[in-house]
Amino acid sequence: MFALKGFSESDFEILRKHLVRRTVAKNEVIVQAGQNAQWMHLVEEGSVKIVQRTAGGDEVVLGAVKAGGFFGEEALLGDQQQYLNTAVAMESTTLMSLSKDGLQKLMVEAMGVGTKLLLALTKTYREALATPEQMAKVITFYTPKGGAGNTTLAVNFACQLARQRKKVAFLDCDLQFGNAHLLVGAPPHLNLARLIQKEETLVYDRIKGFLDRRCDVDFLHAPEQPQEAEMVSRSNLNQILRALGRQYDFLVLDAAPHIDDHTLLLWDMADLLMVVSPADLAGLTRLHRLFKVLGRLNYPKNKFVVLANRFRDSQQPYLAEFNKLPVGHVHTIPDDVEVAATALFQGVPFMLQAPTSGPAQAVADLVRQVLGEDAGTTAPQQKGGIFSRLRSLIAGA
Ligand SMILES: Nc1ncnc2c1ncn2[C@@H]1O[C@H](COP(=O)(O)OP(=O)(O)OP(=O)(O)O)[C@@H](O)[C@H]1O
Ligand SMILES: [Mg+2]
Repeated sequence: MFALKGFSESDFEILRKHLVRRTVAKNEVIVQAGQNAQWMHLVEEGSVKIVQRTAGGDEVVLGAVKAGGFFGEEALLGDQQQYLNTAVAMESTTLMSLSKDGLQKLMVEAMGVGTKLLLALTKTYREALATPEQMAKVITFYTPKGGAGNTTLAVNFACQLARQRKKVAFLDCDLQFGNAHLLVGAPPHLNLARLIQKEETLVYDRIKGFLDRRCDVDFLHAPEQPQEAEMVSRSNLNQILRALGRQYDFLVLDAAPHIDDHTLLLWDMADLLMVVSPADLAGLTRLHRLFKVLGRLNYPKNKFVVLANRFRDSQQPYLAEFNKLPVGHVHTIPDDVEVAATALFQGVPFMLQAPTSGPAQAVADLVRQVLGEDAGTTAPQQKGGIFSRLRSLIAGA
């Protein structure tokens, strides 16, 4: 069995159909650092060493991957990825390999298994890039249905956290059609696409020049043009989240409604996933389908909060159904067209513009609950570095 977290025997049977088996000879170089990454490899038999060349040309062995382990996962995690390290067979070794095309076919055949695979790989990749420093709490807003109020609630939530003196950054990760800037009356000139174009290294000192401070929150806006979304790779996003995570108490992320590898990263990074939905039949149907996918990812139930937005009293029967979902909490935000429209028109979030309105009170209540829970879990989250990841690969063999 392979060391893919959360994979069952039957998941693996489905994955196997998309794998290509081949045997490599002792000392054969399987992947080379810096090469265009196209294949991820599982080791069926034998062993592989992972090496890095120093500037002086010496070879440093970072670790070994034995039967059951995998390497080269960066190939499946975004476009135009390069292998991070070189992998060399230590003996005659049988590999089971998955290409980018293979992953796409797997996604079509069994989205749940494909999603699970990406998540297992993300976790390893994330651990590889992580430093053992404390990270901000990450709150991702996601809706399976566009127009449900995701951005409205994310922006107001971030503003309310800032009003509670928290240090907050907001990332508009709806890369094609993000419009959080409209809600805070900002021109979107400083944005993610400009950042990626202008800066080679995505460290905080470089990122901070692209942040736009509104309502005491530092916003990193979405690209201005939908076609610019392509510039922002998954690993760019990962690096930005990591760099900002070290500077803030909270990162609030606005995710696009579709499910792709960017979305998976935003779900995975989240300490809390706020799922926004209307309390109606269309909303409920989509939530059921969404939670089927989420259910396969082995997240704890408390990670999820469902926000029944634009709630009206006549929708109580749907609320009862929402409460049956496998989530930590269901919260209602009342419908108030006038408050929402005025805030949007003036470019001032309703938390500031109409703090006593129904939606503002409901968001304030939500923030209170999140901060209350926060106080109960003060232990800093330590995440493993590359060496702990390699140790776990070896131990998992
Ligand atoms: N509680 C509310 N009461 C009334 N109107 C609301 C409420 N919340 C959001 N709206 C309105 O719903 C519309 C959609 O909101 P928003 O843009 O936040 O949704 P979204 O899910 O981010 O949509 P998109 O798919 O375009 O990203 C906006 O006109 C907004 O003002
Ligand atoms: Mg939106």
